[in-house]
Amino acid sequence: MTPMSSDTTVTRGLFISFEGIDGAGKSTHIEGLAKAFRGQGRTVTLTREPGGTPLAEKLRAVVLGDAMDPLTESLLVFAARRDHLMTVIEPALARGEVVLCDRFTDATFAYQGGGRGFDLGVLQALETWVQQGRQPDLTLWFDVAPAVAAARRAAVRAPDRFEAQDQAFFERVRDGYAARAAAQPRRFARIDAGQTPGEVQAQVLAAVRALGPW
Ligand code: TYD
Repeated sequence: MTPMSSDTTVTRGLFISFEGIDGAGKSTHIEGLAKAFRGQGRTVTLTREPGGTPLAEKLRAVVLGDAMDPLTESLLVFAARRDHLMTVIEPALARGEVVLCDRFTDATFAYQGGGRGFDLGVLQALETWVQQGRQPDLTLWFDVAPAVAAARRAAVRAPDRFEAQDQAFFERVRDGYAARAAAQPRRFARIDAGQTPGEVQAQVLAAVRALGPW
């Protein structure tokens, strides 16, 4: 299965983000999509947020490990994002590469905005400052019921500061993603992550193909 047409002569940078509540299963599919693009001869930068640079990975450890108020949390994830954009994402896109990013700004709107109830206007202002108009070309939103995601998480790992939240928190995070998807429907593809891995992969490839020739 090929996510792109093979007759493309000019390679354009392509930025795809992966989103969803913890336990939705997105990580497996990022690897699968990276393989598919590499099979087409594309250079892939596989990265994540918070993180993706030495500085941003330090900030990630703080955000995931230390208690703090929601504004501090938001400032730290956007600080990490700024460094990541400037030193990894923008240069890779300028070289015509495919950037696959495990979470991006929609996670901030979903977790800090939805989950924590933080002011969306402030997040919007930070988004404008930090991104200067940059948005993913496509956001794959792995949507699954919070109870299903909780069962998946419990089976694989000990929780971090976000994963330890209750189901009501993840309902709000899910609502946060739904609101972003409704506001920017052309950028978002909702993936039904409650399906089998094979079915989810097929949905992912269909959404990427729908972008047209790259
Ligand atoms: P996650 O991407 O699920 O990584 P892992 O699979 O290694 O646990 O974890 C990142 C956590 O950070 C996740 O719980 C969501 C949270 N997060 C925010 O709260 N705000 C953000 O802006 C981002 C990017 C992530």
